[in-house]
Amino acid sequence: MGNTGLGVGLGLGLCAGAGVLMQAAGPNMEHLKRNTEASVNRVVAPQRQHNTEDIDESSAEELRDAMSYAKENPMLIQVPVLGTARKFWRLSDKATRISRKLALILRSLHSNGRYLTAPLKVSNVFIGSSGSVKLRGVSVSAKGFISIERVRDDYKHLFKVLISLIQTSGGDIANLPPDYREFLMLMGRGTFTMQDEFLIVNHVALLPMENRTEVFLMLHDRIVNYLGRTDPAKKKRILRNLPYKKDWLDTARANAEINQWVVSNVQKEYRRNPNDLLRLNRNVRCHPHEYNNDDIEETLYCEWPELLMAMEKMLHSVGELVDTGIANKFG
Ligand SMILES: *[C@@H]1O[C@H](CO)[C@@H](O)[C@H](O)[C@H]1NC(C)=O
Repeated sequence: MGNTGLGVGLGLGLCAGAGVLMQAAGPNMEHLKRNTEASVNRVVAPQRQHNTEDIDESSAEELRDAMSYAKENPMLIQVPVLGTARKFWRLSDKATRISRKLALILRSLHSNGRYLTAPLKVSNVFIGSSGSVKLRGVSVSAKGFISIERVRDDYKHLFKVLISLIQTSGGDIANLPPDYREFLMLMGRGTFTMQDEFLIVNHVALLPMENRTEVFLMLHDRIVNYLGRTDPAKKKRILRNLPYKKDWLDTARANAEINQWVVSNVQKEYRRNPNDLLRLNRNVRCHPHEYNNDDIEETLYCEWPELLMAMEKMLHSVGELVDTGIANKFG
């Protein structure tokens, strides 16, 4: 992908306000845009005459069916919220990875003008020992063009498959965190556009916990620094639409861990506005006290589970999401 190895460096770079590293994702993003346009314009795909096939990169890896995998691997897990006595339900990193891989398989079909001709079923899904995800026994159209209805149908069936897997793994759908619920609803509602496919496969609900810090900093940089400079009206619109307006500072103070950042910031006290909600979230990530980064990231997620999602959704709605480079952060 051209920017492997930037890892932590990119995150720290963004803490210092460096925008130049964002360029690393450029060419790849162009490629994704072209794919989207190809789908929209119904460009004829390469001639493939098979009606039924396994979508399966061949490998020596051991595969098991998703149902038996789910029975042994809880997908929805409960974690303690650092700095409080509460607990929070979130998807395991494996569960989000499986969700994303499945969405990516569909997206890759669609970008070739193809789609599933029979509803995707749980029995079509296989999980590899190293975390790969494959479909078997599915029928794929060879027509080479595609309508939005076919795309919506594919994701609608994926929506049902994921719910079924989560339930099989012992998860109660009522406990889904709000961002993953929104990811599911986006697919289940079936009202999205071709452009929204980028948001589905790159939904922040599917990020591995360890990369959320970097993605927060990337989206923050795009909103506050880049748009602040090039299009202040867009920046304002995004800030206006952020959640937790009324109570974020109370939430921060009520959390014994996060409160340490609130009280240590004496030069510029936090006020109850969306700017400062982002400023606190950035400071916690850029100026770690003595804590393990992953733990503090999880804590921020548990306290404000919709914040990163809202930032992403707003950037998408103003046409600024693709250029953030988010697509590279899912592993
Ligand atoms: C985090 O992002 C990097 C790219 O910066 C990627 O190589 C890595 O696989 C991601 N981590 C996980 C756990 O997916």
